[in-house]
Amino acid sequence: RLMRRLPPWGNDMLIYAHRGYSANYPENTLSAFEAALPYVDGIELDVQVSKDGRLVVIHDESVDRTTNGTGWVKDMTLQELRQLKIDGYERIPTLEEVLGLIERSNVTLNIELKTDQYAYPGIERLAWLAVNEFELGDRVVFSSFNRETLVRMRDVAPVARLAVLTLTGESDTVSFAETIRAEAIHAQPAFIGSIAWEQIQQTTLETRLYTINDVKDLPPIAVSAIMTDEVERFTK
Ligand code: G3P
Ligand code: CA
Repeated sequence: RLMRRLPPWGNDMLIYAHRGYSANYPENTLSAFEAALPYVDGIELDVQVSKDGRLVVIHDESVDRTTNGTGWVKDMTLQELRQLKIDGYERIPTLEEVLGLIERSNVTLNIELKTDQYAYPGIERLAWLAVNEFELGDRVVFSSFNRETLVRMRDVAPVARLAVLTLTGESDTVSFAETIRAEAIHAQPAFIGSIAWEQIQQTTLETRLYTINDVKDLPPIAVSAIMTDEVERFTK
């Protein structure tokens, strides 16, 4: 196992690369994912759906911030999206490309279904089909801030690993997570100490915190995992 720089918890807390090794590589790109692999237990990424119904790995609903193009992902075909450049040399990956990389590794993949602005009808089935084509169902955790997406995901995929995304936890976050048989809550560090945090102690749900980029921001108590842009800062 990797050596952790996580005093005093050592190897007990897992490290997930947030959008890949996004501190040193363009976020959500194959180079960011590949660069993270030697250092991490898991990789987190974001998916949206193109006009022609393909799953693409990009954080925002629009391509403006991370590529040389402009417009909404949902209004562009995969072919149009693939022509865009990220930092001059990278392209927006398809989910399948990343699954191919993950298949050749042993890390966990956390796919965040980015359905906060658009519901992307059918995204749940598309994502589950893609993961199963690579036989990665047991190494992929699906998360979303959108509860309706998670409910549909559970309907589509009775055995899928699910995580509820929240900012700092609400009074019903834990009961919702149990209802959909999630395995974890993914939350910001301020989740620690919240009412939901008290509730989660009575359950078998895991806690994974995002996004922690500095040792001083580590939680005061061990959690299952942290997600970071700075993967080398926490491993050696
Ligand atoms: O999945 C955790 C975290 O990635 C959620 O926020 O905006 O970075 O996708 P965001
Ligand atoms: Ca995310």
